[in-house]
Amino acid sequence: MSMRESIQHMKDLREQAHSGGGEDRIEKQHEKGKRSARERLDDLFDPHSFVEHQSYIRGRSTAFGLEDKRLPGDGVITGSGLVDGRQVFVSSQDFTVLGGSLGEQHAARIAEAQKLSIATGTPFVQINDSGGARIQEGVLSLDGYARIFRANTDASGVVPQISAILGPCAGGAVYSPGITDFIFMVDNVSNMYITGPDVIRAVTGEEISHEELGGAAAHASRSGVAHFRYKSEQDCMDGIRRLLSMLPANNTEQAPRILPDAPGWDDPDRVVPEVLDIVPEDERRGYDIRRFIGTVFDTDSFFEVHAEYATNVVVGFARLAGRVVGIFANQPAVYAAALDIDASDKGARFIRFCDAFNIPIVTLVDVPGFLPGVTQEHGGIIRHGAKILYAIAEATVPKISLILRKAYGGAFIAMSAKALGYDRVLAWPIAQIAVMGAEGAANVIFRRDIANAEDSEAKRTEKIAEFKESVMDPFVAAGYGFVDDVIDPVYSRTELVRSLEMLATKREQRAPRKHGNIPL
Ligand code: HXC
Repeated sequence: MSMRESIQHMKDLREQAHSGGGEDRIEKQHEKGKRSARERLDDLFDPHSFVEHQSYIRGRSTAFGLEDKRLPGDGVITGSGLVDGRQVFVSSQDFTVLGGSLGEQHAARIAEAQKLSIATGTPFVQINDSGGARIQEGVLSLDGYARIFRANTDASGVVPQISAILGPCAGGAVYSPGITDFIFMVDNVSNMYITGPDVIRAVTGEEISHEELGGAAAHASRSGVAHFRYKSEQDCMDGIRRLLSMLPANNTEQAPRILPDAPGWDDPDRVVPEVLDIVPEDERRGYDIRRFIGTVFDTDSFFEVHAEYATNVVVGFARLAGRVVGIFANQPAVYAAALDIDASDKGARFIRFCDAFNIPIVTLVDVPGFLPGVTQEHGGIIRHGAKILYAIAEATVPKISLILRKAYGGAFIAMSAKALGYDRVLAWPIAQIAVMGAEGAANVIFRRDIANAEDSEAKRTEKIAEFKESVMDPFVAAGYGFVDDVIDPVYSRTELVRSLEMLATKREQRAPRKHGNIPL
């Protein structure tokens, strides 16, 4: 071939790679409310920043008619691009080519992008839209999944890994996203399950639709598999960009910081008298902790994770005077904020992510304890609750706790105990710190006094008040040094900012070991 012909050949191949399975199939995607694999990259990256890798790669198998379907790219696009000027690696499965199914070369292409993401210390975003293992390629396809799972595991704790499920993701294919840090899903677009409705009908006789079984709502609120749910693909990509803006590129860096007077900056000395209206003085009354977060942390900076799952705790990223922190908060609006199995899993996983990526942790505490009940006991609350204790104790990032009202029992230890590893514990003057609430305590330790009194109810009230003052008062805990400072609620923001600044350079070494054994 002459130079001219060679260049033309290159252009033809590139054009072929760009058009995927062709206009008709892309149109079919659009009809389902889906974007094409390349349009998704346009939505994710800064304009003109995408650099494609291995775009001419082809499947090697010719079995069962694959000879005619060996398109360049092999059903996935990989490469890197910029999100707000910061590099991110990506894979985007192309459903228009062999249903985005994963064959040997398709997998090799994804694994190569994963390798470069680890080598360069750059986040990885994978977009899944695939019929799963390419059936014609058999065990080669299974080997491909194994390579990807291995790379996901190698990358864990080294670079942030984000999965967007934008189509089917079934069978063993779910386990790559399952290993990553965050899963994004979209209503009526995403589907994730180990076995679909047909198999379930055949095996158990249960009837359930794809959406009910493995759609975005099911995983965002029931299984907890999805961390974020959106109504459209574009909103989903905006969400991924927002998350990336709050994360460091890798485990050796700090999250991007907003400097004074830059867009998004909020005054560290802002007093917050509004909190007195948000948190009721009566500890039996609930309130939405997200209102407290919205007031105290930098304006509009809170990005909630797992917003619909285990809603008795609230976790997410926010900024305090420009620095990113991870918030782990009790939510008194739900189950009176008692910690249960799902809340423990949600909290522990979030804490471990923050610790791996140098993001300080702030706990907001108003918790009566762990949730009692047979379902909880037999579901393994001991094993699950232990994860929070373990995750906090193991974390070496700055750990700050603010006790607003209740901090009882094991939940106090998990959320606030300096002996467990909190670096700074603050409390409001109305905080109550004890083994259990005053009513429960009075019924146990003053049972006889109350029974023998002429007016039992009056005695009970008197003993409860006595217990609150002599045992639960935050100055008792502060007297032992378990609380560093009792603060005026209107200075909650300033005190948190100062605590964070004080701890920003914290370094902590532990004894070397292969790894701990968190109770899973
Ligand atoms: C090869 C596949 C494929 C696959 C789809 N296609 N899935 N080719 N291997 N796994 C092809 C179809 O043959 C079709 O090709 C094209 O992709 C589009 O598929 P449709 O069925 O027309 O699309 P749709 O109606 O939208 O249905 C999507 C679907 C369905 C629900 C995903 O295709 C499906 O059920 N696929 C099989 C899913 C499956 O059983 N996968 C294996 C799971 S087990 P043509 O040329 O006709 O247009 C697994 C194990 C992994 O993944 C283990 C890892 C540890």
